Amino acid sequence: MANLSNIQQEVLYIIQKAADSLRQDQHFDTVQRKSNRNDLVTDRDRQIEQYIVQYLAAKFPEAKIISEEKTSSLITSVEGLVFFVDPIDGTMNFVKCHDQFAIMIGVYQDGEPLFGAIANVMADQIIYGGPQVGTFLNQTPLPTVPDLPLVDSLVTISTRLLWQQDPNYQLIVHASSGLRVFGSAGIIWSRLVCGQQNLYISKLKPWDLAAGRALAMKNGIMVRNIDGSPVNMLQSQTVIIGTKCATDEALSLINKRA
Ligand code: IPD
Ligand code: CA
Ligand code: CA
Ligand code: CA
Repeated sequence: MANLSNIQQEVLYIIQKAADSLRQDQHFDTVQRKSNRNDLVTDRDRQIEQYIVQYLAAKFPEAKIISEEKTSSLITSVEGLVFFVDPIDGTMNFVKCHDQFAIMIGVYQDGEPLFGAIANVMADQIIYGGPQVGTFLNQTPLPTVPDLPLVDSLVTISTRLLWQQDPNYQLIVHASSGLRVFGSAGIIWSRLVCGQQNLYISKLKPWDLAAGRALAMKNGIMVRNIDGSPVNMLQSQTVIIGTKCATDEALSLINKRA
């Protein structure tokens, strides 16, 4: 069984080192398209990934590591100790010189969230925590997020979902305090955990979900699959993340459509 305080220490060490390196030098030499013209990877994504993955693999040789740019499709189980790594979350922002990008590391034991860390690189902030340790911003404990109604909640819904007709996610925006768009799941997770907004709906991949899901649990933030099925850490899925009141109201709005 993994030692949580050792995991916390090593994850915080390597994410801080990676974030410092990226904050000090945002130069990249190559940009490649992956699945479409907005899905990019730079040589810097790969460098940061290699740096984090090599470190974790040396410290935890028994663990599986699922990381965005080099994940082996052979990983078909979340049994044992699993690290999920997103080396640069918000690569488009990074390429376009926007400040909103993050590094995320989520740690799971037999499919259950153990620990998560999200570095808001340019703000020099690390949010970390887990079900057994609580949630912290740098060294400061974060309070539970107030369970505000939708009318008092800022929301983020991915552009792709907002364009959809059915279900009509725009109903949620109209019922809220307003829409905010950031281009980085990690930055939105940070805002949720800090109580700056109460709802996020997007299709997310395992490395977009893992860290935030682990650190949100103690903080009043719920993570649910939009279709009610259990969250699956080996596939992409559309999730609704937020405080209970705002997520319940949002789900009832999109489910009561004609
Ligand atoms: C993306 C960003 C974006 C979200 C996408 C992610 P990436 O991560 O978090 O905000 O809408 O679903 O894939 O590819 O820049 O690591
Ligand atoms: Ca990507
Ligand atoms: Ca990424
Ligand atoms: Ca990502």
